[in-house]
Order: sequence, then structure tokens, then C-alpha cells
Amino acid sequence: MSRYELKNKIGITGLGAGVWNIGPGNDPFGGPTRDPIPMLDRLPMLAEAGMSYYEAHDVEITDEMAPAAAKLARKLGMKCAMYTPSFFAAPVFKDGAMTSNDPAVRKLGMENALKAVDTTVVLGAKTMVFWNGREGFDFVLAKNGRDSFKRLVEGFNKVGHYALKNYGTKVKFAIEPKPNEPRANMYMANVGEVLYLISRLDREVQPIFGVNPETAHSRIAGLDYIWDVELCLEAGKLFHIHLNSQDGQRYDQDLPFGYTEPLKDLALLVVLQDAKYAGPVMFDVKAPRVDDPKNITDIITVSAQNLIWLWDRALKVDRSKIGQFRRENRLTALSGYLAQCLYGS
Ligand code: GLC
Ligand code: MN
Repeated sequence: MSRYELKNKIGITGLGAGVWNIGPGNDPFGGPTRDPIPMLDRLPMLAEAGMSYYEAHDVEITDEMAPAAAKLARKLGMKCAMYTPSFFAAPVFKDGAMTSNDPAVRKLGMENALKAVDTTVVLGAKTMVFWNGREGFDFVLAKNGRDSFKRLVEGFNKVGHYALKNYGTKVKFAIEPKPNEPRANMYMANVGEVLYLISRLDREVQPIFGVNPETAHSRIAGLDYIWDVELCLEAGKLFHIHLNSQDGQRYDQDLPFGYTEPLKDLALLVVLQDAKYAGPVMFDVKAPRVDDPKNITDIITVSAQNLIWLWDRALKVDRSKIGQFRRENRLTALSGYLAQCLYGS
């Protein structure tokens, strides 16, 4: 099994993807088009597709399954890049976990979160992700927004203190913003909001909280993902990144990285290279409903190949030329230079 590697990257050079990326192909309008693959069987498939890392939710690899998963991953020469509590699938979390109006639901959410911290350690992952899934509202005044914000601060403080007390700085947290879907409006909708929330956490836990920006989520918000990533970098909070693409501002598509906006993707990689980003580079893509079972990992290999091509091209972008175009205020010409780097021979 050969694995994709990012040339000249410092820190983590291998790539990774979520076990949920190779799902059975259901969407809100239709059931699965492929038999579901048992979660642990997905690890060798990801390895076979060139991935060095996998990621999973607590409902996919449960705490009971974790030791077996860790053993299997070791055998495959893989690592867990991140683990994440699923606060969105179970009916009990239909109106959120940390921001639910029901204290019993908030309590259950917290128990799941703390358990997920333990499992993160068992799996040997250094990062636990919180995606805001159901944290939000569909109807105005359904929740008191200021109370919700306080509940998030309280919740993350609790999780952070628990991790520090039990594991020191072994586990870090990356909050993943998204503006909507599944909720009409989601809290922690964008990178700026997440950074603000982190700034309101207890001082001791702030250093272990960062962001997991996802390129498609920025796009769904109508925002530029390069600036979102730059903002994380500026704050010293780019802990993780999810790459994919999105065909316009509509439902969440999780298309292959490099597919919709290759020039922007090239520029994003220039930014990551220049920042000497050492952290994980992971895909969050979704095998489309139309793909046949035997081709289910095409979504991963196409993303990876696109990334490798773009990464190598980004290494060759002449940074002094960018500086010169900026100084001369030739900004259209700068875009043309990037296009030449992308399309030229
Ligand atoms: C869900 C989201 C995805 C997120 C993941 C981990 O699958 O769709 O964007 O990264 O959960 O929390
Ligand atoms: Mn994601």
C-alpha cells in the first residue's frame, strides 16, 4: 500500500479521511444505494486508498470498539487524526446538546463529550473535534442566544478542564464551524465566531482550543476559505483542517478537493506552505450516491491526487513574483500568474 505524502511539508505529511466519507450513499431524499461497510473494515480501505490517517465519530467507532480499532490501525500503519462526539444523530440531541434548553440533555451531551475525550486518548489521536451539528435554532426565540453562548462557554470549559486534569495537554480541541444544515441557523457559524468563543473560555483552557475550518463550510457561508484559514493562522488556532469542495452556496456537498475552485485551492496551499503549517491535512468528502460499491474510495483518491498535484504546483509558485505584483498593484496580473502556475506547462 503506498501512501500519499505532501512533499517538503513540515510536521504531518500523510493524508487522511473520515470513515463516514465512504458511507452507503443515503441523502435526505433517498435511502442507501450501497450496503453499509462495517466501520473497522473501512480502515484498510482508507489505507488502500493511500490514507495514513482516519477520523471517526463516537457512533462509528464506539468506546468499546476503540482498542480493536487502535490495534488494527497499528497493523495497517495508520493513525487516528481526530475523534469526535456525534451531537447530531441521536434523536435526544434533536435541538442540540450543549445548547439544548433541557438541562438533562445538556448533561447527557457533557457525559458523551467527556467519554469521547477518553476514547480519543485510547485511539491515540491528539485532537478531538466538535462540529456544531445541531447547536442552533430553526425558529426565532426558540432559544435565548445569550444563554446558548454561555452554555457553550460553560460546556467547553468543562471539557477543557477535564482533559487538562486527566491528560495534561495530550488532547487538543478543534471546533468546526458551519453556518447552517442541519439547522436553519447554527451557533459557531464561522471561523470568526469560533475564535470569539475561544477568547471567552477560561484562560487555562484557551491554549488547548482551536479551529477546524472546512473549506466547503466557509463556502456554504458565502465566505472565502483562504481568509478563514488565514484568520485561524493569525490567531495561532489552525489546529486541523478539512478539505473538500462545494459547488456554490447550497446544500452541503462534500465534493472532491480541487474539483470546483482549483485556483483558490492552489492559493490556499501557498498560504499553508508559507505559514509552515505542521498540522494534519484531512479530507471531509462524501462518496456520492451514484458511485458503485467497488469505486467507493474514488472520492478519496481523486481528492488526494488533486491535492498532490496542486501542492507540488504551489511549491513552485514564485513568491517574489507575488510580492512584485502586489507592489506594482497589478492584481489582475497576479491572478493571471497563479493561473499560469495552475494551467501552464
Ligand atoms: C460531520 C460533519 C463534518 C464534521 C464531522 C466531524 O460528519 O458533516 O463536517 O467534520 O461531523 O465532527
Ligand atoms: Mn468536516
